[in-house]
Amino acid sequence: MRAIVVEQYGVLPSVQEVPSPEVQPGGVVVKVEATGLCRSDWHGWQGHDSDIVLPHVPGHELAGTIAAVGEGVEGWAVGDRVTSPFICACGTCEQCAAGNQQVCPNQLQPGFNYWGSFAEYVALPFAQVNLVRLPDDLDFDTAAGLGCRFATSYRAVRQVGRVVAGESVVIFGCGGIGLSAVMIAAALGAKVVAVDTNPAALALAAKYGAVEVVTAGPEAVARIRESTGGGAHVTMDALGSNEIVQDALRSLRPRGRHLQVGLLPDGVQVDVSGLIWQELEWLGSHGMAAHHYPEMLALVASGELKPAELVTRTISLAEVPAALEELNLGTPAGVTVIRPGATASLGSTRPD
Ligand SMILES: NC(=O)c1ccc[n+]([C@@H]2O[C@H](COP(=O)([O-])OP(=O)(O)OC[C@H]3O[C@@H](n4cnc5c(N)ncnc54)[C@H](O)[C@@H]3O)[C@@H](O)[C@H]2O)c1
Ligand SMILES: [Zn+2]
Ligand SMILES: [Zn+2]
Repeated sequence: MRAIVVEQYGVLPSVQEVPSPEVQPGGVVVKVEATGLCRSDWHGWQGHDSDIVLPHVPGHELAGTIAAVGEGVEGWAVGDRVTSPFICACGTCEQCAAGNQQVCPNQLQPGFNYWGSFAEYVALPFAQVNLVRLPDDLDFDTAAGLGCRFATSYRAVRQVGRVVAGESVVIFGCGGIGLSAVMIAAALGAKVVAVDTNPAALALAAKYGAVEVVTAGPEAVARIRESTGGGAHVTMDALGSNEIVQDALRSLRPRGRHLQVGLLPDGVQVDVSGLIWQELEWLGSHGMAAHHYPEMLALVASGELKPAELVTRTISLAEVPAALEELNLGTPAGVTVIRPGATASLGSTRPD
């Protein structure tokens, strides 16, 4: 099969012919129809993830059809349309038994622990625990995002952040995670303020429900504190940056909640005494367990959430190296989805 192969961290990968994955007991092999380009793939390529062993195939935000079903997997058949949380939980440990598959200590992640979905086929372990059946009318480009960023933001905003109608929510970084969070928080009735350096990303944030957009910079915190009447109820770092963390904590009102979703491979400095005297909450959020997908899919089916609108570009495998390189400098506005089955360059942009 064709796949993107990383041979050295930070060096552009290439499309290569590699062996297709073999189906394992308890798992399935999925023919990848669409797979999103998430900044976590960029972190992996940069060498920020100690789980990765080279040579490596990235990709963890995927949707497709089952191509092979492993021994012991019941209720799933070749041809079924599926996605899966990028955190493939074991289903048998204490955390899984408690419903917290997103922090399963035995989890395996395609594109990090083993070869991922920037390929024509990908293996998914523990299929019974993790597979999510896609509604027939949900297209693969949209469904890919449910494997990572849309679902991660859904859990972060709704379950971990406990956002309710009327609260002010500030999203720092309006890429795949941030725009999803804007849409989800707005649908919950929150007053959403979006912060980014890229005017095109801010324009999308306004389209998806932000009532105010703020250009990142020295004035941002003062503007946020003013427009939220003395500080936000909830902030989210949807990039992963020490500067954003500082601005986010300064943008909160007393007893506010900060959601940390962006990865911080170089660490971060937090003024813990500020957390104490203002009783701020620092909340980490990681993916979302498969058993929470039905409630999110119901909101997609009812039209309250419109993840299809987030996809702005579809590309082929051949275009992936350049798209990864682009992430060294910034992020094109919206979500980029790769179609591994496409042989010609797609380079397409979905019209408004
Ligand atoms: N916790 C999890 O489970 C989880 C899941 C998925 C992704 N992530 C992480 O979330 C982060 C975001 O991923 P993504 O794919 O949405 O990234 P992205 O590259 O699509 O978006 C980042 C956005 O931040 C903006 N930005 C850059 N500098 C900024 C600044 N100084 N202030 C405000 N905005 C700025 C960019 O213009 C872009 O719009 C990454 O660290 C990724 O690894 C975490
Ligand atoms: Zn991701
Ligand atoms: Zn487990």
